Amino acid sequence: MNKTCTLKSNKSKCLKGIISVPPDKSISQRALILSAICMGNSKIYNLLESEDVLNTLKSIEKLGLKIEKKKMFYEVYGTGGLFKDPQNNLNFGNSGTGLRLMTGLLSTRNINANLIGDSSLSKRPMLRVINPLKKMNVVIEHNNGLLPIKISANNFLSFPIKFRLKIGSAQVKSALLLAATALQGTTEIVEEKPSRDHTELMLKFLGAEINIEKKNNSNTIKIHGPTILRANNFYIPGDVSSAAFLIVATILTKNSKITIKNVGINNYRTGLIDVLKKMNGKISIQNKRTINSEVVADIIVSYSKLKAVQLNESFTTRLIDEYPILFVAASFADGISVFKGLEELKFKESNRIESMQKALKDAGVNINVKSNIVKIKGNQSQNGGNLVQTNKDHRIAMSMLVFGMVSRQPILVDDMRMINTSFPGFKDCLQKIGANIEVVQK
Ligand code: S3P
Repeated sequence: MNKTCTLKSNKSKCLKGIISVPPDKSISQRALILSAICMGNSKIYNLLESEDVLNTLKSIEKLGLKIEKKKMFYEVYGTGGLFKDPQNNLNFGNSGTGLRLMTGLLSTRNINANLIGDSSLSKRPMLRVINPLKKMNVVIEHNNGLLPIKISANNFLSFPIKFRLKIGSAQVKSALLLAATALQGTTEIVEEKPSRDHTELMLKFLGAEINIEKKNNSNTIKIHGPTILRANNFYIPGDVSSAAFLIVATILTKNSKITIKNVGINNYRTGLIDVLKKMNGKISIQNKRTINSEVVADIIVSYSKLKAVQLNESFTTRLIDEYPILFVAASFADGISVFKGLEELKFKESNRIESMQKALKDAGVNINVKSNIVKIKGNQSQNGGNLVQTNKDHRIAMSMLVFGMVSRQPILVDDMRMINTSFPGFKDCLQKIGANIEVVQK
């Protein structure tokens, strides 16, 4: 994509239409990774063809697997978990999910591999995955807790563990579960802050012996290995985290109403919808059904006058990726919104507290940050008019472009290329429903 072009959003008239969003990134990544360790061929329909997912796909190919793109689906020739040592580095680009899940998977597969990523991923913490994996007696080297990661074969001498996961992280949980699929015996993970359960649902769907017990506010997950997974067909639903931008844009733009078709509404992913409803957002869910163990539905959303909201830490894992766009919603809501327990936002594609604090402040928003608490005083009329430093973070770019559709002055982002990591066609999708967003020269 052209380096000299970027995106600018301008005040938009009403948004209308029936639309779909790109397939779910988290589920696409997992469908590729898990079908690789199935016995036999799996077909993946509607795989997200974004940079993050394609980097995982290429890494799996480098491990000796055949993956074919057919007209309607990708066909993965699963080898039951047998991989070859890759000749080159496995490069996961911007993707924490691809990198961390594959680190877990490969750590117990008796192979040698180097895992790398782009400048953003190279700054993100990896010990959260490496330390618990090391308790399984795997051999992993790292660069002071950062990339590159080097996995070495250990002649299958790793073993299952019991682990208490204190941070709310589906990536860490999934890395451990994937490592456990090759181990003899039961791995037990107590998840203190339950997070998205796509890996658990998919493992069960493919025939793994996995059990989840919900007690008080935590989940205990037990997986018995080695797992034998049967190849199957996957259909990937629309990504609710991408739908989030359209939902907030519609709520904030007068006289708007849109329907977003076929969106995955896994309970651990729909915190934003619940919060927007608390803020008086008009959102309804229709046509609910279950596909490959995931709940899918159509989302209908209309313009709404929002009121402020106060959220404590209990919401964090259910809307972890949606805080940037929620901060935009809060900027236009009536009253002071308070968001607590945001520590994990510091470890995403950028430090999202810092990135959003600067972007919103420059746009004229009254935002106050103390450690991991964010306070925003909303106002129906906001200035905008700034150039946003995205720090290579797709969700900062998309959130602020939605801001520019509502603010008095336009918003320009410093780079648009990384939007492709999760939402290829973002501009076209918004233009289709009537948003005033354009490509401009830098
Ligand atoms: C993801 C988990 C979350 C989320 C990320 C996708 C996943 O990360 O922020 O975008 O697919 O498992 P953490 O596990 O670091 O919270």
